[in-house]
Amino acid sequence: MDLFEYQAKELFAQYGVPVPQGKVASTAEEARAIAEEFAAAGKPRVVVKAQVKTGGRGKAGGVKVADDAADAEEKAAQILGMDIKGHTVHRVLIEEASDIAEEYYFSFLLDRANRTFLSICSAEGGVEIEEVAATNPDAVAKVAIDPLTGTPDSVATDIVAQGKLPESAAAGAATAITKLWDVFVQRDATLVEVNPMILTGDGRVVALDGKVTLDENADFRHDLESLASAAEGDPLEVRAKEKGLNYVKLDGQVGIIGNGAGLVMSTLDVVAYAGEERGGVKPANFLDIGGGASAEVMANGLEIVLGDPDVHSVFVNVFGGITACDEVANGIVQALEMLEGRGEDVSKPLVVRLDGNNAELGRSILTDRSHPAVRQVDTMDGAAARAAELAAQK
Ligand SMILES: Nc1ncnc2c1ncn2[C@@H]1O[C@H](COP(=O)(O)OP(=O)(O)O)[C@@H](O)[C@H]1O
Ligand SMILES: [Mg+2]
Repeated sequence: MDLFEYQAKELFAQYGVPVPQGKVASTAEEARAIAEEFAAAGKPRVVVKAQVKTGGRGKAGGVKVADDAADAEEKAAQILGMDIKGHTVHRVLIEEASDIAEEYYFSFLLDRANRTFLSICSAEGGVEIEEVAATNPDAVAKVAIDPLTGTPDSVATDIVAQGKLPESAAAGAATAITKLWDVFVQRDATLVEVNPMILTGDGRVVALDGKVTLDENADFRHDLESLASAAEGDPLEVRAKEKGLNYVKLDGQVGIIGNGAGLVMSTLDVVAYAGEERGGVKPANFLDIGGGASAEVMANGLEIVLGDPDVHSVFVNVFGGITACDEVANGIVQALEMLEGRGEDVSKPLVVRLDGNNAELGRSILTDRSHPAVRQVDTMDGAAARAAELAAQK
Protein backbone atom coordinates (compact mmCIF):
# COMPACT_ATOMS: atom_id res chain seq x y z
CA MET A 1 0.00 0.00 0.00
CA ASP A 2 1.30 3.40 -0.97
CA LEU A 3 0.83 6.22 1.50
CA PHE A 4 -0.04 9.80 0.68
CA GLU A 5 2.72 12.33 1.26
CA TYR A 6 0.99 13.69 4.36
CA GLN A 7 0.72 10.18 5.83
CA ALA A 8 4.38 9.49 5.08
CA LYS A 9 5.31 12.72 6.82
CA GLU A 10 3.18 11.83 9.85
CA LEU A 11 5.17 8.60 10.10
CA PHE A 12 8.46 10.45 9.69
CA ALA A 13 7.49 12.86 12.47
CA GLN A 14 6.63 9.94 14.78
CA TYR A 15 10.15 8.62 14.29
CA GLY A 16 11.82 11.98 14.80
CA VAL A 17 12.62 12.80 11.18
CA PRO A 18 12.25 16.58 10.74
CA VAL A 19 9.36 17.56 8.42
CA PRO A 20 7.68 20.90 7.72
CA GLN A 21 4.55 21.58 9.75
CA GLY A 22 1.40 21.02 7.76
CA LYS A 23 -2.27 20.08 7.69
CA VAL A 24 -4.58 18.53 5.14
CA ALA A 25 -7.57 20.31 3.58
CA SER A 26 -10.26 19.01 1.27
CA THR A 27 -11.80 22.38 0.40
CA ALA A 28 -10.33 25.76 -0.53
CA GLU A 29 -11.96 27.29 2.57
CA GLU A 30 -10.24 24.78 4.82
CA ALA A 31 -6.98 25.55 3.06
CA ARG A 32 -7.49 29.24 3.83
CA ALA A 33 -8.22 28.54 7.51
CA ILE A 34 -5.04 26.47 7.84
CA ALA A 35 -2.99 29.16 6.10
CA GLU A 36 -4.47 31.72 8.52
CA GLU A 37 -3.23 29.62 11.44
CA PHE A 38 0.25 29.63 9.91
CA ALA A 39 0.06 33.40 9.37
CA ALA A 40 -0.97 33.90 13.00
CA ALA A 41 2.12 31.91 14.00
CA GLY A 42 4.29 34.23 11.92
CA LYS A 43 4.56 31.96 8.85
CA PRO A 44 2.37 33.55 6.18
CA ARG A 45 4.10 31.83 3.24
CA VAL A 46 2.77 28.31 2.71
CA VAL A 47 2.95 25.64 0.04
CA VAL A 48 -0.23 24.03 -1.30
CA LYS A 49 0.47 20.42 -2.33
CA ALA A 50 -1.80 18.01 -4.19
CA GLN A 51 -2.18 14.71 -2.30
CA VAL A 52 -2.16 12.03 -4.98
CA LYS A 53 -0.26 8.78 -5.06
CA THR A 54 1.99 9.66 -7.95
CA GLY A 55 5.23 11.58 -8.35
CA GLY A 56 5.95 14.63 -10.46
CA ARG A 57 3.23 16.70 -8.83
CA GLY A 58 5.42 19.78 -8.92
CA LYS A 59 5.92 19.56 -12.67
CA ALA A 60 2.21 18.96 -13.20
CA GLY A 61 1.29 22.15 -11.35
CA GLY A 62 0.18 20.36 -8.21
CA VAL A 63 2.63 22.13 -5.86
CA LYS A 64 2.24 25.89 -5.50
CA VAL A 65 3.63 28.50 -3.14
CA ALA A 66 1.11 30.94 -1.64
CA ASP A 67 2.07 34.28 -0.11
CA ASP A 68 -0.87 34.60 2.27
CA ALA A 69 -4.14 32.94 3.29
CA ALA A 70 -6.19 34.43 0.45
CA ASP A 71 -3.57 33.22 -2.02
CA ALA A 72 -3.58 29.78 -0.40
CA GLU A 73 -7.34 29.57 -0.88
CA GLU A 74 -6.96 30.50 -4.54
CA LYS A 75 -4.12 28.00 -5.14
CA ALA A 76 -6.05 25.26 -3.34
CA ALA A 77 -9.09 25.95 -5.54
CA GLN A 78 -6.86 25.54 -8.60
CA ILE A 79 -5.29 22.31 -7.40
CA LEU A 80 -8.34 20.55 -5.90
CA GLY A 81 -10.09 18.55 -8.63
CA MET A 82 -7.02 18.65 -10.85
CA ASP A 83 -6.09 15.44 -12.68
CA ILE A 84 -2.48 14.39 -12.20
CA LYS A 85 -1.52 11.35 -14.28
CA GLY A 86 -5.03 9.94 -13.92
CA HIS A 87 -5.34 10.72 -10.20
CA THR A 88 -7.97 13.24 -9.16
CA VAL A 89 -6.88 15.58 -6.37
CA HIS A 90 -9.30 15.34 -3.43
CA ARG A 91 -7.03 16.80 -0.77
CA VAL A 92 -4.21 19.28 -0.47
CA LEU A 93 -1.49 19.53 2.14
CA ILE A 94 -0.93 23.05 3.38
CA GLU A 95 2.52 23.34 4.86
CA GLU A 96 4.94 26.05 5.89
CA ALA A 97 7.16 27.14 3.01
CA SER A 98 10.72 26.01 3.66
CA ASP A 99 13.75 28.10 2.93
CA ILE A 100 15.57 25.70 0.60
CA ALA A 101 19.35 26.01 0.27
CA GLU A 102 19.91 22.62 -1.39
CA GLU A 103 17.88 19.58 -2.45
CA TYR A 104 19.14 16.00 -2.08
CA TYR A 105 17.75 12.55 -2.76
CA PHE A 106 17.50 9.66 -0.34
CA SER A 107 15.69 6.31 -0.29
CA PHE A 108 15.63 2.86 1.24
CA LEU A 109 14.19 0.07 -0.83
CA LEU A 110 13.95 -3.66 -1.15
CA ASP A 111 16.53 -4.87 -3.66
CA ARG A 112 14.87 -8.06 -4.85
CA ALA A 113 17.54 -8.90 -7.44
CA ASN A 114 20.26 -8.91 -4.81
CA ARG A 115 18.06 -10.21 -2.00
CA THR A 116 18.91 -7.37 0.27
CA PHE A 117 18.05 -3.79 1.16
CA LEU A 118 19.47 -0.83 -0.66
CA SER A 119 19.92 2.81 0.10
CA ILE A 120 20.21 5.38 -2.66
CA CYS A 121 21.66 8.76 -1.89
CA SER A 122 22.52 11.74 -4.08
CA ALA A 123 23.44 15.37 -3.67
CA GLU A 124 21.34 15.98 -6.77
CA GLY A 125 17.78 15.73 -5.54
CA GLY A 126 14.45 17.33 -6.27
CA VAL A 127 14.49 15.96 -9.79
CA GLU A 128 13.67 12.43 -10.87
CA ILE A 129 16.43 10.15 -9.64
CA GLU A 130 16.15 7.97 -12.76
CA GLU A 131 17.15 11.01 -14.80
CA VAL A 132 20.16 11.73 -12.61
CA ALA A 133 21.16 8.07 -12.77
CA ALA A 134 20.97 8.15 -16.57
CA THR A 135 22.79 11.43 -17.18
CA ASN A 136 25.21 11.47 -14.26
CA PRO A 137 25.49 7.99 -12.71
CA ASP A 138 28.47 8.97 -10.56
CA ALA A 139 26.22 11.34 -8.66
CA VAL A 140 24.01 8.50 -7.42
CA ALA A 141 25.37 6.31 -4.61
CA LYS A 142 23.84 2.88 -4.09
CA VAL A 143 24.80 1.29 -0.81
CA ALA A 144 23.58 -2.18 0.17
CA ILE A 145 22.33 -2.43 3.75
CA ASP A 146 23.00 -5.50 5.86
CA PRO A 147 19.64 -6.16 7.52
CA LEU A 148 21.32 -7.39 10.70
CA THR A 149 23.44 -4.27 11.11
CA GLY A 150 20.92 -1.77 9.74
CA THR A 151 22.12 1.81 9.58
CA PRO A 152 23.80 2.87 12.79
CA ASP A 153 25.51 6.26 12.60
CA SER A 154 28.69 4.84 11.05
CA VAL A 155 26.76 3.32 8.14
CA ALA A 156 24.57 6.42 7.69
CA THR A 157 27.67 8.61 7.65
CA ASP A 158 29.19 6.43 4.94
CA ILE A 159 25.99 6.61 2.83
CA VAL A 160 25.97 10.39 3.06
CA ALA A 161 29.67 10.56 2.10
CA GLN A 162 29.14 8.29 -0.91
CA GLY A 163 26.17 10.42 -1.97
CA LYS A 164 28.57 13.39 -1.90
CA LEU A 165 26.40 15.49 0.38
CA PRO A 166 28.27 18.59 1.56
CA GLU A 167 29.88 18.78 4.98
CA SER A 168 27.21 21.26 6.14
CA ALA A 169 24.44 18.68 5.64
CA ALA A 170 26.32 15.49 6.52
CA ALA A 171 25.53 15.18 10.21
CA GLY A 172 21.86 16.16 9.88
CA ALA A 173 21.33 13.84 6.93
CA ALA A 174 23.02 10.90 8.69
CA THR A 175 20.77 11.36 11.73
CA ALA A 176 17.67 11.52 9.50
CA ILE A 177 18.80 8.36 7.70
CA THR A 178 19.15 6.34 10.92
CA LYS A 179 15.57 7.32 11.79
CA LEU A 180 14.25 6.59 8.30
CA TRP A 181 15.71 3.10 8.67
CA ASP A 182 13.60 2.66 11.79
CA VAL A 183 10.52 3.67 9.78
CA PHE A 184 11.52 1.25 7.02
CA VAL A 185 12.01 -1.73 9.34
CA GLN A 186 9.46 -1.14 12.05
CA ARG A 187 6.64 -0.29 9.64
CA ASP A 188 7.49 -3.14 7.23
CA ALA A 189 8.00 -0.80 4.29
CA THR A 190 9.36 -1.82 0.91
CA LEU A 191 10.13 1.78 0.00
CA VAL A 192 10.89 4.93 1.96
CA GLU A 193 11.82 7.77 -0.35
CA VAL A 194 12.61 11.37 0.48
CA ASN A 195 12.94 13.55 -2.60
CA PRO A 196 13.91 16.17 -1.86
CA MET A 197 15.64 15.91 1.47
CA ILE A 198 16.66 19.55 1.91
CA LEU A 199 19.21 21.66 3.67
CA THR A 200 17.51 24.84 4.90
CA GLY A 201 19.06 28.29 4.91
CA ASP A 202 19.64 27.93 8.64
CA GLY A 203 21.44 24.59 8.26
CA ARG A 204 18.75 22.02 9.12
CA VAL A 205 18.07 18.84 7.17
CA VAL A 206 14.33 18.33 6.53
CA ALA A 207 12.26 15.74 4.64
CA LEU A 208 10.34 17.95 2.21
CA ASP A 209 8.59 15.12 0.37
CA GLY A 210 7.85 11.55 1.40
CA LYS A 211 6.87 8.40 -0.40
CA VAL A 212 6.30 5.25 1.62
CA THR A 213 5.13 1.86 0.36
CA LEU A 214 4.08 -0.62 3.04
CA ASP A 215 4.29 -4.37 2.51
CA GLU A 216 0.69 -5.59 2.58
CA ASN A 217 1.82 -9.04 3.69
CA ALA A 218 2.65 -7.43 7.03
CA ASP A 219 -0.65 -5.56 7.40
CA PHE A 220 -1.70 -7.84 10.25
CA ARG A 221 1.21 -6.57 12.34
CA HIS A 222 0.08 -2.97 12.20
CA ASP A 223 -2.81 -0.79 13.14
CA LEU A 224 -3.56 0.55 9.71
CA GLU A 225 -7.06 1.81 10.30
CA SER A 226 -6.17 5.46 10.11
CA LEU A 227 -4.04 4.90 7.03
CA ALA A 228 -6.49 2.60 5.29
CA SER A 229 -9.48 4.86 5.80
CA ALA A 230 -7.73 7.58 3.87
CA ALA A 231 -6.41 5.20 1.25
CA GLU A 232 -7.97 5.69 -2.11
CA GLY A 233 -7.85 2.42 -3.90
CA ASP A 234 -9.91 1.40 -6.85
CA PRO A 235 -13.47 0.93 -5.46
CA LEU A 236 -13.69 -2.64 -6.82
CA GLU A 237 -10.34 -3.49 -5.22
CA VAL A 238 -11.54 -2.05 -1.92
CA ARG A 239 -14.71 -4.17 -2.07
CA ALA A 240 -12.72 -7.27 -3.07
CA LYS A 241 -10.37 -6.73 -0.17
CA GLU A 242 -13.30 -6.50 2.25
CA LYS A 243 -14.39 -9.90 0.97
CA GLY A 244 -10.88 -11.31 1.36
CA LEU A 245 -10.39 -11.79 -2.38
CA ASN A 246 -7.10 -11.66 -4.21
CA TYR A 247 -8.21 -9.16 -6.88
CA VAL A 248 -6.40 -6.60 -8.99
CA LYS A 249 -8.28 -4.34 -11.38
CA LEU A 250 -6.82 -4.05 -14.88
CA ASP A 251 -8.01 -1.99 -17.82
CA GLY A 252 -9.52 -4.58 -20.18
CA GLN A 253 -12.98 -6.03 -20.90
CA VAL A 254 -12.68 -9.77 -20.15
CA GLY A 255 -13.30 -10.57 -16.49
CA ILE A 256 -11.05 -13.36 -15.21
CA ILE A 257 -11.67 -15.83 -12.41
CA GLY A 258 -9.32 -18.72 -11.80
CA ASN A 259 -7.97 -20.93 -9.07
CA GLY A 260 -4.29 -20.58 -8.30
CA ALA A 261 -2.14 -17.51 -8.94
CA GLY A 262 -0.06 -19.24 -11.62
CA LEU A 263 -3.09 -20.36 -13.59
CA VAL A 264 -4.64 -16.89 -13.35
CA MET A 265 -1.43 -15.25 -14.54
CA SER A 266 -1.27 -17.50 -17.60
CA THR A 267 -5.00 -16.93 -18.18
CA LEU A 268 -4.29 -13.20 -18.41
CA ASP A 269 -1.65 -13.97 -21.03
CA VAL A 270 -3.81 -16.20 -23.22
CA VAL A 271 -6.72 -13.75 -23.06
CA ALA A 272 -4.47 -10.82 -23.97
CA TYR A 273 -3.08 -12.89 -26.85
CA ALA A 274 -6.51 -13.98 -28.07
CA GLY A 275 -7.74 -10.40 -27.71
CA GLU A 276 -5.09 -8.99 -30.02
CA GLU A 277 -6.92 -10.38 -33.06
CA ARG A 278 -10.32 -9.53 -31.66
CA GLY A 279 -10.49 -5.77 -31.53
CA GLY A 280 -7.69 -5.52 -28.96
CA VAL A 281 -9.75 -6.66 -25.97
CA LYS A 282 -7.77 -7.36 -22.82
CA PRO A 283 -8.21 -8.95 -19.39
CA ALA A 284 -10.20 -6.75 -17.01
CA ASN A 285 -8.73 -8.07 -13.77
CA PHE A 286 -6.70 -10.63 -11.90
CA LEU A 287 -8.76 -12.74 -9.51
CA ASP A 288 -7.46 -15.86 -7.84
CA ILE A 289 -10.18 -17.59 -5.83
CA GLY A 290 -7.64 -20.10 -4.55
CA GLY A 291 -7.86 -23.80 -4.04
CA GLY A 292 -10.89 -25.13 -2.19
CA ALA A 293 -13.06 -22.29 -3.49
CA SER A 294 -16.53 -22.57 -1.99
CA ALA A 295 -19.73 -21.47 -3.68
CA GLU A 296 -19.67 -18.39 -1.51
CA VAL A 297 -16.15 -17.44 -2.62
CA MET A 298 -17.19 -18.05 -6.23
CA ALA A 299 -20.30 -15.88 -5.67
CA ASN A 300 -18.24 -13.08 -4.16
CA GLY A 301 -15.75 -13.32 -7.01
CA LEU A 302 -18.47 -13.27 -9.65
CA GLU A 303 -20.16 -10.36 -7.92
CA ILE A 304 -16.98 -8.27 -8.03
CA VAL A 305 -16.14 -9.18 -11.62
CA LEU A 306 -19.71 -8.76 -12.93
CA GLY A 307 -19.95 -5.50 -11.00
CA ASP A 308 -17.14 -4.04 -13.08
CA PRO A 309 -18.85 -1.86 -15.71
CA ASP A 310 -15.91 -2.40 -18.08
CA VAL A 311 -16.43 -6.16 -18.14
CA HIS A 312 -18.23 -7.49 -21.24
CA SER A 313 -17.58 -11.20 -20.75
CA VAL A 314 -16.14 -13.41 -18.03
CA PHE A 315 -13.72 -16.31 -18.33
CA VAL A 316 -13.87 -18.76 -15.44
CA ASN A 317 -10.79 -20.95 -15.75
CA VAL A 318 -10.57 -23.78 -13.24
CA PHE A 319 -8.19 -26.66 -12.95
CA GLY A 320 -9.61 -29.20 -10.54
CA GLY A 321 -7.20 -30.50 -7.97
CA ILE A 322 -8.00 -31.22 -4.35
CA THR A 323 -11.16 -29.26 -4.97
CA ALA A 324 -12.59 -31.27 -7.82
CA CYS A 325 -14.39 -29.78 -10.84
CA ASP A 326 -17.81 -31.09 -9.77
CA GLU A 327 -17.54 -29.10 -6.54
CA VAL A 328 -16.51 -26.03 -8.51
CA ALA A 329 -19.38 -26.55 -10.97
CA ASN A 330 -21.82 -26.79 -8.10
CA GLY A 331 -20.18 -23.67 -6.71
CA ILE A 332 -20.79 -21.81 -9.96
CA VAL A 333 -24.44 -22.93 -10.09
CA GLN A 334 -25.03 -21.94 -6.47
CA ALA A 335 -23.14 -18.70 -6.96
CA LEU A 336 -25.36 -17.70 -9.88
CA GLU A 337 -28.47 -18.54 -7.85
CA MET A 338 -27.09 -16.63 -4.89
CA LEU A 339 -26.43 -13.56 -7.04
CA GLU A 340 -29.85 -13.75 -8.70
CA GLY A 341 -31.31 -14.03 -5.22
CA ARG A 342 -29.47 -10.84 -4.24
CA GLY A 343 -30.95 -9.16 -7.32
CA GLU A 344 -27.62 -8.91 -9.16
CA ASP A 345 -27.51 -8.85 -12.93
CA VAL A 346 -25.93 -12.09 -14.16
CA SER A 347 -26.64 -11.74 -17.86
CA LYS A 348 -23.05 -11.09 -19.01
CA PRO A 349 -21.71 -14.15 -20.86
CA LEU A 350 -19.68 -16.52 -18.73
CA VAL A 351 -17.23 -18.80 -20.49
CA VAL A 352 -16.31 -21.71 -18.24
CA ARG A 353 -13.43 -24.07 -18.76
CA LEU A 354 -13.16 -26.99 -16.38
CA ASP A 355 -10.25 -29.38 -16.51
CA GLY A 356 -8.45 -31.72 -14.15
CA ASN A 357 -9.98 -33.77 -11.35
CA ASN A 358 -13.60 -34.81 -12.15
CA ALA A 359 -13.79 -32.49 -15.17
CA GLU A 360 -16.41 -34.65 -16.94
CA LEU A 361 -18.69 -34.63 -13.94
CA GLY A 362 -18.28 -30.87 -13.49
CA ARG A 363 -19.10 -30.20 -17.11
CA SER A 364 -22.23 -32.34 -16.98
CA ILE A 365 -23.45 -30.46 -13.90
CA LEU A 366 -23.21 -27.18 -15.80
CA THR A 367 -24.77 -28.71 -18.91
CA ASP A 368 -27.73 -30.03 -16.89
CA ARG A 369 -28.27 -26.68 -15.22
CA SER A 370 -28.05 -24.91 -18.62
CA HIS A 371 -27.88 -21.39 -17.23
CA PRO A 372 -28.36 -18.95 -20.14
CA ALA A 373 -25.20 -16.96 -19.26
CA VAL A 374 -22.91 -19.99 -19.15
CA ARG A 375 -21.08 -21.49 -22.13
CA GLN A 376 -18.51 -24.22 -21.73
CA VAL A 377 -15.32 -24.58 -23.71
CA ASP A 378 -13.00 -27.45 -22.89
CA THR A 379 -9.61 -25.96 -23.69
CA MET A 380 -7.95 -22.93 -22.16
CA ASP A 381 -7.00 -21.39 -25.52
CA GLY A 382 -10.45 -22.08 -26.95
CA ALA A 383 -12.16 -20.57 -23.93
CA ALA A 384 -9.91 -17.50 -24.01
CA ALA A 385 -10.73 -16.99 -27.70
CA ARG A 386 -14.47 -17.37 -27.03
CA ALA A 387 -14.40 -14.93 -24.09
CA ALA A 388 -12.41 -12.40 -26.12
CA GLU A 389 -14.82 -12.77 -29.03
CA LEU A 390 -17.84 -12.19 -26.80
CA ALA A 391 -16.21 -9.16 -25.23
CA ALA A 392 -15.39 -7.74 -28.67
CA GLN A 393 -18.97 -8.22 -29.88
CA LYS A 394 -20.40 -6.07 -27.12
N1 LIG B 1 7.19 22.97 2.02
C1 LIG B 1 7.83 23.39 0.93
N2 LIG B 1 8.49 24.58 0.95
C2 LIG B 1 9.15 25.01 -0.14
N3 LIG B 1 9.21 24.35 -1.29
C3 LIG B 1 8.59 23.18 -1.39
C4 LIG B 1 7.87 22.64 -0.28
N4 LIG B 1 7.38 21.45 -0.66
C5 LIG B 1 7.76 21.26 -1.94
N5 LIG B 1 8.49 22.28 -2.39
C6 LIG B 1 9.12 22.42 -3.71
O1 LIG B 1 8.36 21.74 -4.67
C7 LIG B 1 9.10 20.70 -5.29
C8 LIG B 1 8.19 19.51 -5.58
O2 LIG B 1 7.61 19.06 -4.37
P1 LIG B 1 7.55 17.52 -3.99
O3 LIG B 1 6.95 17.42 -2.66
O4 LIG B 1 8.90 16.91 -4.16
O5 LIG B 1 6.53 16.93 -5.06
P2 LIG B 1 6.77 16.01 -6.36
O6 LIG B 1 7.98 15.18 -6.12
O7 LIG B 1 5.53 15.19 -6.50
O8 LIG B 1 6.93 16.96 -7.51
C9 LIG B 1 10.22 20.39 -4.32
O9 LIG B 1 11.35 19.86 -4.96
C10 LIG B 1 10.48 21.74 -3.71
O10 LIG B 1 11.36 22.49 -4.54
MG1 LIG C 1 9.29 14.90 -4.68
